[in-house]
Amino acid sequence: MKIGVLYGGTSSEREVSLSSGKGIVQALKKKNHHVIEIDFKGTKECLLQIMNLDVDIFFIGLHGRLGEDGRIQGLLDLLGIPYVGSNVLGSALAMDKAKSKKMFYLNGIRVAKEKVVEKHSFNETDFSHELSYPVVVKPNHEGSTIGLTIAHNKKELITGIASAFQHDDVVLLEEFISGKEVTIAVMGNKGDVKALPIVEIVPKNAYYDYESKYAPGMSEHIVPARLSDDLTKQLQNQAILAHVALGCDIYSRVDFIVPHDGSEPVILEVNTLPGMTPTSLYPDAAREVGLSYEDMIEKFIQLSLN
Ligand code: DAL
Ligand code: MG
Repeated sequence: MKIGVLYGGTSSEREVSLSSGKGIVQALKKKNHHVIEIDFKGTKECLLQIMNLDVDIFFIGLHGRLGEDGRIQGLLDLLGIPYVGSNVLGSALAMDKAKSKKMFYLNGIRVAKEKVVEKHSFNETDFSHELSYPVVVKPNHEGSTIGLTIAHNKKELITGIASAFQHDDVVLLEEFISGKEVTIAVMGNKGDVKALPIVEIVPKNAYYDYESKYAPGMSEHIVPARLSDDLTKQLQNQAILAHVALGCDIYSRVDFIVPHDGSEPVILEVNTLPGMTPTSLYPDAAREVGLSYEDMIEKFIQLSLN
């Protein structure tokens, strides 16, 4: 098959995407596909290259804005070229953490208490909130914990908001939940959607930050996660529910915190183009059900073309 692979991109997750892209290209070559690589730099030349490429399908190895958020998907829809992964709506909704939380909440999945602040109306002097510290400060449309800080008091909160505004005009403040970080790989199409074994993340740093995510050895992935059978089933069902609620397709990875106090799990977000790097989580879950990295990539292609 002739497959175009888009990687790189212009978001702050460019380096991550270059690594995901490398893995995806190698896997497709091992499966004897004819691979055409595009390092997507957002230029007119790149767009023309995509438009003029005669491929059977695109594998989108991009992360973050202008790659994972529905815009590339929209372009490929206009061109009538199939692609792997979620459509415009699912991609766009999942990229907006605050809006996707509303969908999760409507579907009965627990979300962290939050406040959304917008750059145009934010005023440091009359800013107030009802959240308990610590507060997690996140750019609303970022990935890989870029721009994320944890504030323990008002001063840190204001500093955190200012630095998050460097990445995004919308910032999400959430009550920090002390718990186990777990993630669930979801796979399927046309109503036949499955959750893979849960991956438990044990970061070496205080939380699963950029370094813990991508520096080899900086986090341990335990598969299957150390959870009771009931909790495992519940989380897997909620992951599928979240994936379907946003209108996602083919594959996604759904992140949760399982609170140490034994209360209900809290969903963090759905990633529609989860990392495919050597330290990424989704491939570990796939391996647990006997799918090698190459088989997993091939499976995504097959699911997309069926
Ligand atoms: N945003 C990164 C790539 C992930 O979710 O794996
Ligand atoms: Mg993410």
